[in-house]
Amino acid sequence: MVSLTRHIFEQQCLQPDGTEEFFTIMNRIVSGGKRIARALREAGLTGSLGVTDTKNVHGEQVQYLDARANEFFVEAFQDSGIVQLVVSEEMEEPFPVAAAKGAGKYAVFFDPLDGSSNIDVNAPLGSIFSIHCLDPNGRFLKPGCEQVAAGYLLYGAGTILVYTCGAGVHQFTLDPMAGEFFLSASNVQIPSRGKTYSVNEGNSYKWSKDMNEAVVYFRNDDKATGRPYSLRYTGCLVADVHRVLVKGGLYLYPGEVQKPEGKLRLMYEAAPLSFVVEQAGGLGSTGVERISTIHPKTPHQCVPLIIGSREDVEVVERFLSRE
Ligand code: AHG
Ligand code: MN
Ligand code: MN
Repeated sequence: MVSLTRHIFEQQCLQPDGTEEFFTIMNRIVSGGKRIARALREAGLTGSLGVTDTKNVHGEQVQYLDARANEFFVEAFQDSGIVQLVVSEEMEEPFPVAAAKGAGKYAVFFDPLDGSSNIDVNAPLGSIFSIHCLDPNGRFLKPGCEQVAAGYLLYGAGTILVYTCGAGVHQFTLDPMAGEFFLSASNVQIPSRGKTYSVNEGNSYKWSKDMNEAVVYFRNDDKATGRPYSLRYTGCLVADVHRVLVKGGLYLYPGEVQKPEGKLRLMYEAAPLSFVVEQAGGLGSTGVERISTIHPKTPHQCVPLIIGSREDVEVVERFLSRE
């Protein structure tokens, strides 16, 4: 049994400067994640379901557990001396957590609770994280290909943590009795094609004709190419992308004609999940460009996301690049 603590310790040696800082950051993410897992397990007993009276920067009603999850992660990094900034879906401005101004060379981006519409129905939820190294001039908005590490926690039937720091994708499962994560799959590889597509098809009237035709392609019957694909959609990006990572297929949250940037967030949803999926041999794309090469302009910017098995994502790219 390889514990996550030991695994992170070994992986830190792969970091360019091989310092203990990576070990510390990852351990703090793990401790924040464990607190969230517990809060979710007990939510029905502790009266912590339901919504707050605030909206986040995306105009979405913040649920009580969104706010709690955000607090757990912020507390995890507070005064670490290593992390200078945290950027979260639930905070409009990047939040300085270092004790002294300018201290700490890392920025951590996170979606503290992903799939919030599942909170009240005991369906899967996740947390997503992305670690960047700040430039000497303090620049923290960098393309996904420069991430130091990224991953997610998935709070499902069990709690798992999946991460990469550029040396493969590794999955750990929480042993609730021991309070420790143990390795449950190493060097995960995504199949080059799958059997499922995952998309909120109720939005199809808002998509372009090409996008509609791409999705219809996966529904069409063609035995030779393994179609039709089955539809799977939980409403939790982490859960849907994890299914794709393990079994193959694709997840889509397309841009819309009236809202070309779509709904999902580059820095704490699309980029970290693309880093994981590409480390496993898959692809993360907007449909016209790779997610990992986008130069971000703002912390909360949105991008269309088509992610999963390489060949399946490339099918969509071909539909969207037709003249
Ligand atoms: P969040 O709960 O962090 O706001 O993210 C919700 C995201 C994602 O988890 C999911 O795939 C998608 O939004 C669901 O959106 P729709 O309800 O529009 O399908
Ligand atoms: Mn989310
Ligand atoms: Mn969220």
